[in-house]
Amino acid sequence: MLRKLNFKVLINNAKFSTIAVPRVNDQNLDLKAAKPFHEIPKINRLKLIINYLPGGKYYKKGLNELHRSLSKEYGNIVIMPAMLGKPEIVFSYSDHDNETILLNEGNFPNRYSFEILKYFRETLRPDVYGGEYGSVASENGERWYKIRTIINQVMLPPKNVQQFVQPIDEISNEFIDFIRKRSNDTNDEILGKDINLWTLESMASVTLNKRLNLFNEKFIDPRARELIQCVRKFFIMTVDFELNPSIWKFYHTKAFKEYMEVNDKLLNTVLSFIEETMENMKNTTDNNQEVEGILQKLLKIDKRVAVIMASDSLFAGIDTTGSGTIGVLYCLAKNPEKQEKLRQEILKIFPNKDEPIDARKMANMPYIRSCIKEALRLFPPVSGTSRTIAKDLVLSGYQIPAGTVVVTWPQLFYRQEKFFPKSNEYIPERWLKESVKDCPHLQVEKFHFLPFGHGVRSCPGKRIANMEMEVLLINLLRKFKIEWHQDDMKVNSVLVNIPYGDIRFKLVEL
Ligand code: HEM
Repeated sequence: MLRKLNFKVLINNAKFSTIAVPRVNDQNLDLKAAKPFHEIPKINRLKLIINYLPGGKYYKKGLNELHRSLSKEYGNIVIMPAMLGKPEIVFSYSDHDNETILLNEGNFPNRYSFEILKYFRETLRPDVYGGEYGSVASENGERWYKIRTIINQVMLPPKNVQQFVQPIDEISNEFIDFIRKRSNDTNDEILGKDINLWTLESMASVTLNKRLNLFNEKFIDPRARELIQCVRKFFIMTVDFELNPSIWKFYHTKAFKEYMEVNDKLLNTVLSFIEETMENMKNTTDNNQEVEGILQKLLKIDKRVAVIMASDSLFAGIDTTGSGTIGVLYCLAKNPEKQEKLRQEILKIFPNKDEPIDARKMANMPYIRSCIKEALRLFPPVSGTSRTIAKDLVLSGYQIPAGTVVVTWPQLFYRQEKFFPKSNEYIPERWLKESVKDCPHLQVEKFHFLPFGHGVRSCPGKRIANMEMEVLLINLLRKFKIEWHQDDMKVNSVLVNIPYGDIRFKLVEL
């Protein structure tokens, strides 16, 4: 089963493990002593199917619950057998293994995922996806690397992100006006669906250079309605095809055809927005130059790169940022003393309630960043990821050959006392340098907290998402006290962790 093992890699791995707290990471040096792959515990197929049926322990439980259960039942490592065209997958729940995988992923980390999306892109829309650039989220290898290199140059530099503080500030204020008008100033509330509009409006402004006017019925762009419907359907159907047993690889069902149509509509809507921007760019004279945003920068390189990035951002950036935003609002509403501490930081920098937010001033706000980070720990939008490992590795004492798909689930670390003391409490201070100095046990190791992933395949939108959440918080907290009066928030763990149920934040005007 195991092909020839690559010793060089393993020695490199040992060299890399210089993490703050001393740890033993030399299992890889003893490859010959590692147990063979076939001895890894394997989930029984029939038992798994029964557990997924009504009455079974995984029925409607979501992915996080599934992995928590499996880790309790089998320990750090278990094999999910091949099923319905999906390969055999190793589930790994050890922090040590996670570190080994990430440190050995090389320049082309290969994520096994989104097969149906890849099918649509390669088979039905080669006009966009068939060239030298693959997609960012669903492609691997050199074609991924090529587009990802461009995306990094455009999306990651802080100055390119800061450029969007002003439009996002404007959108936040429109959002607040929308909430106020709806409730006639008596009972201001933010609902879960409002946050979805906020993230879509913000994302369109960043990656499509387009205001959809979702908070203004009169001026709403008609294509926006199509976009909202498609994004929602796309998400629900992707979850269905990716996570649930499906026969699409063998037979194209009605649902499969509908999914292809939704993808097509989504792509065509993105294309129409982008073509409009290209037209505007042609008409922009030198004296009338707009500030060049992310979309314009990408368009100058290649229109297909711009289209691919905009579609991938709709796919990867909306539900994640929405879920992160709801998570941080919830944590602050449930912890009024932390909310007040954050308000004091905000008012120190922006004492005037209506003062426009200045990107430079935002740099001096360590507590807001800690509040967001700590909320992402308790309510991470993304729980885990997968890699088809490029090199033979040893995980949890077993030999794992190159080419094996391994799913890791870092969310399982986030509420463990040994990694995060008082792990169920919301303590933003654990991320502040000065608190850690006085209280070293609060120090967090790098591989125990990866809300945006790690390394070259980590999230290219992380700075944008953080900036969006910061701008919204600054605007909300200097105007309102945020309260939560419902039962504890629940989260549905599908491709992204989605808060659900009665999401309702009460706003009390200050
Ligand atoms: C709070 C919000 C967000 C969270 C928690 C988040 C988290 C993540 C994570 C964990 C990954 C996978 C990393 C891996 O496999 O190792 C990822 C990938 C990705 N994210 Fe985000 N993300 C967020 C917002 C965004 C935004 C706003 C955008 C777009 C503007 C975006 C675009 C992407 C893309 C394109 C990928 C695929 C990258 C690749 O495979 O090279 N994300 N994100």
